[in-house]
Amino acid sequence: MKSLRHVGFLLVLFCAAGFVTTSAYAKPVDGDGAGGLVLKGDSQCTECHDEADEPLPSVLGLKHGVLAIAKTKHGTRADGNTPTCTDCHGDSLDHKNYRGSGKPPKPDVYYTKGTVTPAALRSEKCLACHGKESQRHFWPGSAHDNADVTCTSCHDIHTDHDKVRDKLTQAGVCFTCHKDKRAEVRRPSHHPVMEGKVTCSDCHNPHGTAGPKLLVRDSVNDTCYQCHMEKRGPFLHNHQPVNENCSICHNPHGTIIGFMLKSRPPFLCQECHSEDGHPGQLATQPTGPTTSFTALGTIGRGCLNCHTAIHGDNNPQGATATRRFFR
Ligand code: HEC
Ligand code: HEC
Ligand code: HEC
Ligand code: HEC
Ligand code: HEC
Ligand code: HEC
Ligand code: HEC
Ligand code: HEC
Ligand code: HEC
Ligand code: HEC
Repeated sequence: MKSLRHVGFLLVLFCAAGFVTTSAYAKPVDGDGAGGLVLKGDSQCTECHDEADEPLPSVLGLKHGVLAIAKTKHGTRADGNTPTCTDCHGDSLDHKNYRGSGKPPKPDVYYTKGTVTPAALRSEKCLACHGKESQRHFWPGSAHDNADVTCTSCHDIHTDHDKVRDKLTQAGVCFTCHKDKRAEVRRPSHHPVMEGKVTCSDCHNPHGTAGPKLLVRDSVNDTCYQCHMEKRGPFLHNHQPVNENCSICHNPHGTIIGFMLKSRPPFLCQECHSEDGHPGQLATQPTGPTTSFTALGTIGRGCLNCHTAIHGDNNPQGATATRRFFR
């Protein structure tokens, strides 16, 4: 930021130039302090918010300069829908016309930490252009909207690297609020989120959805089938909980048990199968070679030593031994 007096001096020069170039605001003005980087109309702001607003630390990624917006989609000069400074920050007349020696009054709408601009108004500014897009049809009343999480709680605007839209850095943005998920995706069995192969937005649309828990599809299962098609079947013999909801047995963020299972067989299975017969038997460790059902249901993969096709099978068994989930 130049000193305001310096700016005042520039203003004089600027207005003088205006006489010559007929309309100073009609096109990007080279030499207005913004190097002609920004849009028409923006010079009313960039006369002060110029390269000097790009402090050294931006190199270190700590703070980014205001004019970096020119390198983003919001800086595409050829696109008539590109926002100007005031589309997002409001006309801010008191702010831009302030010529006192202290700090100017705040702009009408601002987004930095400690802002007093209501959350709804901050999101409204973005929705003016992005509200009609199908991705955001369910934003109003979504979990994030209701909790006063705004567009810019996730999106950085004055930078060409918006962390939340980069697969490798997205989860880090979500973790700032969802700390429990940071712990879950680091458990021994997890989707490769930290490895950058699967990301939160593969399963969630943070802008709101018709389905539960901001899931991209209408149900948990349809969300999983996107990548695990083979679990959809159709099978000759279906396992009811599998058709109902994958997250009955799996925590897709991560668990300490293999295959992201919420608990270990036989206990997982016995949460439902506790009737008489081998399904409900107590777990026992064998002392030597054995054919005991109980022991075989305890060691190694537990019940899955025999019931290998737990998600459903197409085994054409006879009527007496049907639906056992053998391959
Ligand atoms: C006369 C110089 C001047 C003009 C013109 C000007 N600003 Fe500012 N602006 C400042 C100063 C000085 C600050 C720093 C105030 C502070 O530190 O509290 C500032 C701060 C800001 C902030 C940061 C507010 C915050 O606390 O996060 C925004 C946003 C902003 N200006 C937007 C604009 C917009 C939009 C325009 C054009 C409509 C504009 N400014 C025009 C001088 C100006
Ligand atoms: C698409 C909406 C949008 C547009 C257009 C926009 N801003 Fe911003 N501005 C923001 C948001 C959001 C922030 C909060 C920081 C961030 O996300 O980068 C911000 C932050 C700022 C800040 C404070 C920077 C800081 O880190 O303290 C200033 C100053 C500012 N904008 C000025 C401008 C000026 C000048 C223009 C026009 C060249 C402009 N903005 C255009 C949305 C916008
Ligand atoms: C005046 C209209 C307008 C406003 C206001 C606006 N945008 Fe945009 N935004 C655009 C246009 C136009 C594009 C480019 C669209 C495209 O290329 O498909 C865009 C693109 C984006 C993109 C995608 C960028 C990319 O590289 O693909 C994001 C994210 C975005 N805007 C977020 C925001 C947020 C957050 C706000 C509010 C702080 C906001 N926008 C305000 C018009 C606007
Ligand atoms: C909880 C975090 C979060 C919030 C809040 C959020 N976004 Fe996004 N946004 C994302 C993520 C993640 C992506 C990338 C999605 C992807 O790659 O499929 C994205 C992508 C976008 C895009 C570009 C791709 C697309 O979907 O068209 C636009 C534009 C956008 N967001 C606008 C907005 C607007 C406007 C708001 C406020 C109403 C908003 N976002 C609120 C996380 C968020
Ligand atoms: C600024 C904080 C913040 C950020 C950043 C954030 N969230 Fe949220 N999120 C919340 C709050 C607050 C809620 C609602 C309260 C709750 O259920 O914990 C929520 C709820 C959710 C829910 C549950 C919805 C429901 O119906 O119960 C999901 C899923 C979610 N967020 C995913 C994400 C993803 C994915 C990201 C990153 C792209 C993200 N969030 C980033 C604050 C945030
Ligand atoms: C493989 C798909 C998948 C991925 C990847 C994923 N989630 Fe989820 N998430 C789900 C499902 C399914 C649910 C609903 C679970 C349920 O109903 O028990 C959920 C629920 C949530 C919830 C709300 C309920 C709760 O457990 O608190 C939050 C918050 C959430 N996810 C955040 C995230 C974040 C942040 C990321 C990225 C680190 C992420 N998720 C990645 C599938 C996924
Ligand atoms: C975007 C694609 C994608 C979606 C959607 C998805 N997964 Fe995955 N899933 C993967 C990938 C990639 C792996 C890792 C495969 C590997 O490591 O070979 C995986 C592995 C798994 C594993 C095995 C883990 C292990 O330890 O071997 C389970 C269980 C699983 N997913 C369950 C689910 C469930 C439940 C859902 C729905 C909530 C789901 N997945 C949604 C891509 C996805
Ligand atoms: C009744 C509990 C249960 C339900 C419900 C369930 N699974 Fe599984 N899943 C398991 C068990 C147990 C394993 C370990 C399999 C093994 O050891 O052979 C597993 C393993 C997996 C694997 C990794 C190994 C493989 O077979 O590819 C994936 C992927 C998987 N499940 C996806 C899903 C999806 C998708 C759903 C929902 C359609 C689902 N599961 C529902 C119990 C379940
Ligand atoms: C959430 C409850 C639930 C869990 C957990 C569960 N099941 Fe099931 N299982 C069912 C239901 C319900 C049926 C259908 C029963 C029926 O049709 O009589 C079923 C059917 C079966 C059948 C076929 C029974 C028959 O009569 O043909 C086998 C075998 C089976 N489950 C094994 C397992 C194994 C092994 C596990 C652990 C990996 C497991 N189940 C976990 C609920 C569950
Ligand atoms: C040694 C192989 C083996 C092991 C280990 C095993 N099963 Fe079975 N299971 C079978 C066979 C074979 C049948 C079919 C019996 C029949 O048709 O009479 C069966 C039938 C079932 C049935 C349906 C009939 C009934 O008795 O209700 C269920 C439910 C079942 N098993 C659950 C389990 C569970 C839960 C475990 C783990 C505690 C388990 N099984 C461990 C081989 C095994």
